[in-house]
Amino acid sequence: MSDAPTPWPDGFLWGSATAAAQIEGAAHEDGKEDSIWDHFARIPGAVAGGDTPEVAVDHYHRMPADVALMKELGLQSYRFSTSWSRIKPGDRFVNHAGLDFYSRLVDELLDAGILPWLTLYHWDLPQALEKTGGWANRDTAYRFRDYASTVFDALGDRVTHWTTFNEPLCSSLIAYAAGEHAPGRREPRAALAALHHQHLAHGLAVQTLRSRSEEAGALKLGITLNLTNAVPNDPSDPADLEAARRIDGLWNRMFVEPLLLGSYPADVLDDVREYDFESLVHDGDLQTIAQPIDFLGVNHYHDDNVSGHPLPADAAPGLVPTDRPKASPFVGSEYVTFPSRRLPVTAMGWEVNPAGLRSLLVRLGREYPSPPPLYITENGAAYDDLVDADGRVRDTEREAYILSHVDAVRGAIAEGADVRGYFVWSFLDNFEWAWGYEKRFGIVRVDYETQERIVKDSGRAFARVIADARAGV
Ligand code: NOJ
Repeated sequence: MSDAPTPWPDGFLWGSATAAAQIEGAAHEDGKEDSIWDHFARIPGAVAGGDTPEVAVDHYHRMPADVALMKELGLQSYRFSTSWSRIKPGDRFVNHAGLDFYSRLVDELLDAGILPWLTLYHWDLPQALEKTGGWANRDTAYRFRDYASTVFDALGDRVTHWTTFNEPLCSSLIAYAAGEHAPGRREPRAALAALHHQHLAHGLAVQTLRSRSEEAGALKLGITLNLTNAVPNDPSDPADLEAARRIDGLWNRMFVEPLLLGSYPADVLDDVREYDFESLVHDGDLQTIAQPIDFLGVNHYHDDNVSGHPLPADAAPGLVPTDRPKASPFVGSEYVTFPSRRLPVTAMGWEVNPAGLRSLLVRLGREYPSPPPLYITENGAAYDDLVDADGRVRDTEREAYILSHVDAVRGAIAEGADVRGYFVWSFLDNFEWAWGYEKRFGIVRVDYETQERIVKDSGRAFARVIADARAGV
């Protein structure tokens, strides 16, 4: 038997991803108003180092040069998000100056032969809508549908791939229950309402965009979820198994199942019974949410090793994922902890374990009847890069992370997973939300003083992966 690796499927798409609030800057230019992240970042202590998205990496002004760099690296697609508060500031009127930026971006990409992959919501709700309840208010879902329609009016003639939401787990539970992301609320019922309303907004937008598509099949509509393998620390320990079930339910199944199966998982509804989740779900909502989609975007960085016991007293600090909702208030049992498995970790403290990505992709194909095609819409790693005296960034750890995860995707395809593309996070170093600018994920380094861009060794390595894949290697 030959051990030649499985060839990449025809048309496999290679790209890189960013998000508006993380890179654009120009936070108050050309009519843009505050998003919840502009507002949140001004709260003392909310973001590390007091960093804000005000300037970010100035992509708003440097967009043509950034697209030229994408072309130089051979990216076939660029996943970006549109900013609601730039396009409809305060959700009041259409700001044509804001829309024009995205129109120019799309033209620039198409001229460079790069497929635009547009995300409508990557966490930056207009602050004016937060004042009327934010995502806890059902009306926000209808506002989102209208915003989606506005963006489609301007770009629907040129953009074929549309993602409604990016990681709704983060923009609902982390933002409204754990308080770690904007708007920083710690209200369990509001968090569950945000979760349901974001699903509803997704379904409404898919319906609207689909109804406006003139050519059947031309439009590709989907959503991006951050999915994990919730691994029981000791698979023979009932407390660990129960903790893993709760995490899998709350983080994965509460998102995948309404979208793909048209129902919420009964065990999780039971876990959150005290918050009366079901009263949020109106007749017909689940049919709206379960609109057929053309792809499921998967963001994956690390698995979660879950235990139902307290962490051992000697647990190494910093080795526990910190970007997730705290165990309370939803998990019910006394403990849900994330003990270290002593794997290597990135600068985020996240485990490096490519086998997890492979098994997640294979599982999705097996656990859901006819799931839509999968795209890895984000995968990547933060490390503390240095610029060497010769001006080069030798980010060998990020390079190894990306190459090993690309291999894992190939392995998943060999096992039968229907994966159609891979986007590395991120194209540029950027505003890493509550971590500010300290954590660098880019394959292109940004000097935050001068805004100079330097392609890191990982960026060159990724360019070689793309070139080899296209050459059939
Ligand atoms: C997921 C988010 O979509 C993105 O905005 C973030 O920067 C990366 N993960 C890394 O944390």
